[in-house]
Amino acid sequence: MQRPIVTHFFDEPTNTFSYVVQDPDSTACAIIDSVLDFDYAAGRTDVRSADEIIAFIHHRQLDVTWILETHVHADHLSAAPYLHEKLGGKTGIGAKIVEVQEIFGKAFNAGSEFARDGSQFDALFNEGDVFSIGGLQGKVVHTPGHTPACLTYVIGDAAFVGDTLFMPDYGTARCDFPGGDARTLYHSIQKVLALPEQTRLFLCHDYKAPDRDTFQHETSVAEQRQANVHVHEGISEEAFVKMRTERDATLGMPRLIIPSVQVNMRAGHMPPAEDNGDVYLKVPINKFK
Ligand SMILES: [Fe+2]
Repeated sequence: MQRPIVTHFFDEPTNTFSYVVQDPDSTACAIIDSVLDFDYAAGRTDVRSADEIIAFIHHRQLDVTWILETHVHADHLSAAPYLHEKLGGKTGIGAKIVEVQEIFGKAFNAGSEFARDGSQFDALFNEGDVFSIGGLQGKVVHTPGHTPACLTYVIGDAAFVGDTLFMPDYGTARCDFPGGDARTLYHSIQKVLALPEQTRLFLCHDYKAPDRDTFQHETSVAEQRQANVHVHEGISEEAFVKMRTERDATLGMPRLIIPSVQVNMRAGHMPPAEDNGDVYLKVPINKFK
């Protein structure tokens, strides 16, 4: 079993983990789920988090093969275009991004300039697709439920699960965003839990659990099967769907959902400048519950 070198980066304002996944036998690496810092009140972006990744890659003298997203994130902006410009590499996301683009393109009344065909990305992945990072082989597992386009990237003994599972003491991702579905997530999670039990699972987020005071980014299939508070072995599909639906009804919107989806549906690019040369994001009024 191939064992990639995995380095995590944490953005505490959005509780997001980004990863550099490195082939131990070459200089090839991939970046998964990068963050563009965004001060919403000031409308100002910053590349501090992305620059940390760039410095790491330069220090290790790595070559970026892929810049991957597990999904269209609703809680942070992607730094993929900035990283691509600085480091090269191909961008990739799930092929079902076209559904997400359709939903949010409509919700934000994006004009005809906004292509809803995924063409902003270099690669659109489907279930079972394979890709290479040097000598490492990655495999794509479609894990919808949180969003229709969510993917898990399985690379050797490591799986990057995006927003499906969180730490065992925290549970699972919400399913109440447009296109989300709790029953679908349950089935997707079963695919992740069917991986070999020593598989290392790398999470997209951690929020700490009530009894834990440190952030954690890594767990395993065995730990999840045994102890995940929402989906451990023995919890039925019906019980999960009921729990997830009831819990989702109590959750507020993530602080950055409005800017995040407008930018991330465009692969991390801002909308085009208006006729005065400035760039704006929209806030739809009374549109989302
Ligand atoms: Fe997400």
